[in-house]
Amino acid sequence: MKISSSEASISDISCDAVVAGIHPDGILGPVLSQIDQAVGGIVTQLVARKEITGKSAEITRLLAPSGLETRQLLIVGLGERDQFGYAAASHAVGAAAKQLAAKPHKNVTFCFEADWSDAMVASGVCSAIAACQGQDLYRAEKKLTPFEEITWLGASQAALSEGEILGDCVNLTRRLINEPPSIMTPIRFAQEATELAQQYGLDIDVWDQERLEKESCGALLAVARGSAHPPRLVTLKYRGTPDESESLGLVGKGVTFDSGGYSLKPSEAMKTMKCDMGGAATVLGTIIAIARLKLPVSVTGYMGLVENMVSGNAYKLGDVLTARNGTTIEVHNTDAEGRLVLADTLDVAVRQGITHLVDLATLTGACLVALGMDVTGIMTNNQAWCDELMAAGRETGELLWQLPMFELYDQQIMSDVADIKNVGEGRWGGAITAAKFLEQFVADRPWIHCDIAGPAFAEKPKAWLDAGGTGAMLRTLVELARRLPAGAASRKGS
Ligand code: BES
Ligand code: MN
Ligand code: ZN
Repeated sequence: MKISSSEASISDISCDAVVAGIHPDGILGPVLSQIDQAVGGIVTQLVARKEITGKSAEITRLLAPSGLETRQLLIVGLGERDQFGYAAASHAVGAAAKQLAAKPHKNVTFCFEADWSDAMVASGVCSAIAACQGQDLYRAEKKLTPFEEITWLGASQAALSEGEILGDCVNLTRRLINEPPSIMTPIRFAQEATELAQQYGLDIDVWDQERLEKESCGALLAVARGSAHPPRLVTLKYRGTPDESESLGLVGKGVTFDSGGYSLKPSEAMKTMKCDMGGAATVLGTIIAIARLKLPVSVTGYMGLVENMVSGNAYKLGDVLTARNGTTIEVHNTDAEGRLVLADTLDVAVRQGITHLVDLATLTGACLVALGMDVTGIMTNNQAWCDELMAAGRETGELLWQLPMFELYDQQIMSDVADIKNVGEGRWGGAITAAKFLEQFVADRPWIHCDIAGPAFAEKPKAWLDAGGTGAMLRTLVELARRLPAGAASRKGS
C-alpha cells in the first residue's frame, strides 16, 4: 500500500473514496465545511435530520457525490469530542477502511481536522492497514482487498511512516496467529523470525532441542515431549543504543497449538488454540516495529515455542520437572503448560542480564472470566515499572487492568512433593496464581506479566478489524519502549 500526504484542497483531489470525520456535537471543522459546501450542504442537512449522529465508528455513505471528484464520500463518527483519543481515532478510521475494503478500491483519501496530532494520524494509518487485512488466508476469494494507495490530507511524512510500520507489524503478528497450527509449528515460527532478523539486520539465536537439553530447560522440554514437532527458543535482539545499562526483555508464550495434553481440552475450547502462540507473535511483531522505527533502546525478544500434545511420550500429571533455574515443579494439570514454557524462557532472559522484563501470554481462561475478551490483565512485582506500561496503554488506548499480587496467593502454588506445582488450589484467582508461578522465575527483576488470553484473538469481527489474531498490545509495547530512556531516568530518581 502506497501512503502519501497531500496539501491539496479536497475539491482538487480525484480518488475512489473520501473519508472525513464528525463528532456528535455536529460542529463542522474547516475540512468538513469545505466538503459540505462542495456537495451542496448535504452534510449539514443530514446532521440536522440526525441521520449523521457522530457516534463512534458510525458510517454514513454518500455515493457519487456531486461536487467532489470521488465515487463515494464516507462520513465517520468520531465519538464525543472530550473523549476523543487514539482509540476513538483508530476505531473510526478502521471502521471506514474495513467497510471500503469490502470492495476493491485503488485510492482512498482520509481528511480529518488539523487537531489530529502526529501520533493520532499514525494510529489512524496503522488501523487502516490492519482493517484491510482479513483472517481468510486460505480463501480463494478474499473478503477484503487492501487499497493500492492511501492519501492523508495535511499529515507529516513522519506520522505516515510510523503508522505504516505499526500497521505492517500488527498485520505480521496477526498473520502468524491466523496461520493454521499445522503450518505455524515451532520450526516454522523460528524460520519466520530468522528471515525477519536477516531482513532488518538483527541478532538472532535459535536454540533447538539439543541446545535446550544442554541448557537444562526441563520445564519447556516437558511440554514439548508429546509433540512430533520439536521445540525452539528464539532470542532476537535489537541494539538501538550502545548504552546497555537498561535493557528491555520481551518474553512470549509460543504454544503453537494447545490441545491441553493429557488434561485434554474439549473441542469447543481447543478450536481456537492456534492462538496460543499469540504472546510470541506479539513479541516478534513488536521487536520488528521497534527496529524499523529505530528507537534508541536495547530490546531483546525471547520466544518459547512448543506444541502441547498427547502421545506415549507426553508429560503426565504427577510428573516432577526441574526448571532451568533449579526449581522443581509438580505437574497437576498438563493444560497449565504456558507457565512451564515461560518459566525457562524468563530464566534465559534473566541470566542474560536483562534489567526490565515484560512477558506476554495467552495464559489463562480465568483472566477472560475476570476481565472479558478485550482487556489485558497485568500483574507485577514492581509498581513503578507497571505504572510505565499503564501510562503507555493510556497513550495508545489499548485496555489494560491490573490484578493484585497479594502474598496470600503464594501458598496456593505450594506442592507436597516438589518446590511448587503448576496450578493453584481450585479455579479461583487462576490468572493471579499463574502470575505467582511465573514470579518464581524472574529473580528480582522488575517484571510485568500481561495475560492476553482475551484480547490476542477475537472470535467475532469488530467494525474496525476482522476476527482472528488482533495484534493487541503491540502498539502499547512500542510506546513503552519509546518511553524507556526517559522513564528509566525518572524511576532512578524515585
Ligand atoms: N492457553 C490456555 C489459556 C487460554 C484460554 C487462552 C482461552 C486463550 C483462550 C492455557 O494454556 C490454559 O489452558 N490454561 C488453563 C489453566 C488451568 C489448567 C490452571 C485454563 O485457563 O483453564
Ligand atoms: Mn493450556
Ligand atoms: Zn495454553
